[in-house]
Amino acid sequence: MADLHPDSPYMPHRHPEPGATFEWDEEQRRELDRILERYPTKQAALLPVLHLAQRKVGWLPPHVIVKVSETLGLTPAWVFGVVTFYNMYNQKPRGKYFLQVCTNLSCMLRDAYDIYDHLCSRLRVKPGHNTEDGKFTVLEVECLGSCNTAPVVQVNDDYHENMTIEKIDDLIETLP
Ligand code: FES
Repeated sequence: MADLHPDSPYMPHRHPEPGATFEWDEEQRRELDRILERYPTKQAALLPVLHLAQRKVGWLPPHVIVKVSETLGLTPAWVFGVVTFYNMYNQKPRGKYFLQVCTNLSCMLRDAYDIYDHLCSRLRVKPGHNTEDGKFTVLEVECLGSCNTAPVVQVNDDYHENMTIEKIDDLIETLP
């Protein structure tokens, strides 16, 4: 904890839910062991371990970051730095369906902004925010690495490719 400034929002006592804790369950511990076996050092396993934690909690609040840092023998500040570097790690709670719209070059040229604007307006949500019912989050993101099927919308872990406004409307209708 010595590496965090006392005013850091990542100090446990400043957490919005004081006293919140996170423990790995049995299944996660087994997965943790499998991950650690694959890497030469604990530090090298940080990215998959963060994914493991995020899969359980849905995002990475401070007490989870602290737990990951303890598990891997790293400082919370180091783990926080990694979490804030990659946008695949959620620094706040996301809706049940996290819609990430790529607006990078290939997608932009194939009308990704029309899809993005349509989503925000149809769901009445500000970019990066959750809908009031907590069902959706819409976010503009950089290249998702599937430029040949642009435009691409990632919904949770799944890619939806060659999207159009009609297709995104159909998709939204089918999400329970
Ligand atoms: S530019 Fe959208 S996936 Fe690459």
